[in-house]
Amino acid sequence: MTETGQFLFFTSCLYIIIYPLIISVVVALPTKAEGYDLRPGAAGAPFKIALFADLHFGEAESTDWGPLQDVNSTRVMSSVLDHETPEFVIYLGDVITANNILIRNASLYWDQAISPTRARGIPWASVFGNHDDAAFEWPIEWFSAPGIPKIHCPVANSSCSGKEDCSFQGTQRLELMKNEIELNMLSHSRYGPKGLWPSVSNYVLQVLSSEDPKSAVAFLYFLDSGGGSYPEVISSAQAEWFRLKALEINPDSSVPEIIFWHIPSRAYEKVAPKFGIHKPCVGSLNEEQVAPQEAEMGMMKLLAKRKSAKAIFVGHNHGLDWCCPHKELWLCFARHTGYGGYGNWDRGARIVEITQKPFSVKSWIRMEDGNVHSEVVLSP
Ligand SMILES: *[C@@H]1O[C@H](CO)[C@@H](O)[C@H](O)[C@H]1NC(C)=O
Ligand SMILES: *[C@@H]1O[C@H](CO)[C@@H](O)[C@H](O)[C@H]1NC(C)=O
Ligand SMILES: *[C@@H]1O[C@H](CO)[C@@H](O)[C@H](O)[C@H]1NC(C)=O
Repeated sequence: MTETGQFLFFTSCLYIIIYPLIISVVVALPTKAEGYDLRPGAAGAPFKIALFADLHFGEAESTDWGPLQDVNSTRVMSSVLDHETPEFVIYLGDVITANNILIRNASLYWDQAISPTRARGIPWASVFGNHDDAAFEWPIEWFSAPGIPKIHCPVANSSCSGKEDCSFQGTQRLELMKNEIELNMLSHSRYGPKGLWPSVSNYVLQVLSSEDPKSAVAFLYFLDSGGGSYPEVISSAQAEWFRLKALEINPDSSVPEIIFWHIPSRAYEKVAPKFGIHKPCVGSLNEEQVAPQEAEMGMMKLLAKRKSAKAIFVGHNHGLDWCCPHKELWLCFARHTGYGGYGNWDRGARIVEITQKPFSVKSWIRMEDGNVHSEVVLSP
């Protein structure tokens, strides 16, 4: 595994800007140990994961209501974490809405989004969505009487010309990832193999047995489904990476695999319930059409015929929260967690619970108000 090398290309001033602001709450790590090691706590205890999908921090930051949304999203995450006390959290993309973020402020919002998890000492991993490095969208109002708001450059004396830090743009995937990884000991995110860039968040973590720390209970695969600075797609190169990686670490398909990315694949359209939600599908929201990836380039073909692949979890569609079977696999939506982004459906988070002996994967949705619904057994 060479996915987690050091990246020397990063010389931006962003680091200098944000470092003093968050040093008090995180530990800076110059390098991170190789490997992927999530271990359930007590012997035999289940391994519980909370999925935070579509938080959209930093949306409309120049309005009154934009920052209030983020306060609300923080409240949702805190409520879910306190009710469930999960072992792990997955940020399932659209952590921020880069389209509305002035200057290179994106990592500050990213940091706000991960702070409820970090504050509780819970480790996490993240994947990118289509809004995380989207281009800045100029608000039309800025071209009428009040004009374009004055830009306040964040640092008076930086080693940069100031030009880059004062431009209207978000922050690239690699920089967002670098800031998350290097400033957070609890982050298990990875850059992914260089050969797959511009798609960045491609990596695998293993949940280890608490009884035998050398044996894997499950592999968690994370893939970047694109969007923002490049097309919304999982490429054939990513599918090939998955194939080779699985062959390397799970050659006989004896260890179950669970897969996470942001934008639903086209197979979700095929299994989507038409009206309401009926068996075998399980869920509570079926309020819009699936908005799938632009093309299918081989990933689903690989997964659909793998006995060890149990379920895929995506976000992206805020008005959908169902799980439906597709061949040997379950296709699940998370639940819109953030007050940012479209839609006013009540917020919550999908929980995934892996039990070791006998192996099982269960899931349910925990709402902001503490209610639980849509429980489903996804494996065996
Ligand atoms: C924040 O949450 C409260 C309670 O759900 C809601 O009434 C309010 O509209 C929300 N505000 C924003 C800006 O999302
Ligand atoms: C950067 O983000 C902070 C919130 O973290 C906000 O208060 C500030 O206005 C933003 N700065 C710019 C120039 O957008
Ligand atoms: C900024 O840099 C100038 C020249 O390099 C120096 O004279 C000044 O004291 C610096 N200001 C701050 C706030 O560091």
